[in-house]
Amino acid sequence: MFPINLLSFLTLYALLVRVDAGRVHVDNKPQVRVTTSFTNFDARIMDQWGGGGGAIFIVSFDDPLHPFMGRPYGGGSRHDVRGTNAFGSGYPYGKMNASIVSGRPFPFGVWPLWWADDFMGSGEVGPHVDVIRPGGHVSIVELKPDKRHWSESSDETFFAIGDSQSLLSILVSYVTWCHASRAWPMRFDPRLSNATVKLENVLRYYRASSFALASPSYTNPSARNATSRGTTLLPGPIQSSGFWQCLDSVTANALPIMNPPPEKYVYRLN
Ligand SMILES: *[C@@H]1O[C@H](CO)[C@@H](O)[C@H](O)[C@H]1NC(C)=O
Ligand SMILES: *[C@@H]1O[C@H](CO)[C@@H](O)[C@H](O)[C@H]1NC(C)=O
Ligand SMILES: *[C@@H]1O[C@H](CO)[C@@H](O)[C@H](O)[C@H]1NC(C)=O
Repeated sequence: MFPINLLSFLTLYALLVRVDAGRVHVDNKPQVRVTTSFTNFDARIMDQWGGGGGAIFIVSFDDPLHPFMGRPYGGGSRHDVRGTNAFGSGYPYGKMNASIVSGRPFPFGVWPLWWADDFMGSGEVGPHVDVIRPGGHVSIVELKPDKRHWSESSDETFFAIGDSQSLLSILVSYVTWCHASRAWPMRFDPRLSNATVKLENVLRYYRASSFALASPSYTNPSARNATSRGTTLLPGPIQSSGFWQCLDSVTANALPIMNPPPEKYVYRLN
């Protein structure tokens, strides 16, 4: 039963992508495949620039191999992607307890980032489950303005943190739309004392705190206050930086988010 389902879904999906690609003039629309079951390897697709939304699903209770059996996921839509500088922000639903991220649903299909010392319970999505993290292990990439386009702000440095596939796909958009200079993502381990970015450096979380933009020149004094409501007000020089505004806007608009379930296509083919 399931191989047919999966195969027909993949076939149809390939067709849809070709049609869609014709309209937006993109040959390979950046996508991230999220395995939602470890019994039948069912999966959902996250699309860059996608609108998200649709029904909320539950990780099957018949899936003992899944670390988050019974956890709700999906349903988050594009306009809910932006959060604040507080870890645990950017959730369209499921923010049961503002000071803790463990036990929360995954509204965009991906898991929140994790910080050292099980900060706000984020250890549940920590290194022990890194190999099955949707979109791949947590990575970081340096974002510097390309001097040919941003002569006035050429000394600014930002960092993006997120699952490796989301990071790679949005990097294309940062380079194309924001004239960021090209750089390779690297693995990110927040436990290292010399980690490039600390919890305090995060300017804004996105996509249910599964992605962040940060700057080493920024220190959020409330970053370790789990009950902090956070702020979107940043220091003047960052707030007024064209490069920052572009990175923030591209992230909010282009970061891959989970598509609505494709059920009607699967049913039609069966
Ligand atoms: C939220 O979680 C914290 C930490 O576990 C706990 O101390 C607090 O009582 C919880 N708040 C609510 C409203 O449940
Ligand atoms: C941190 O230190 C380790 C060990 O000294 C080194 O291998 C690693 O490259 C350093 N990382 C950064 C980001 O500087
Ligand atoms: C933590 O944040 C809450 C809510 O914003 C605030 O009321 C409280 O004073 C903060 N605590 C500290 C120690 O900063």
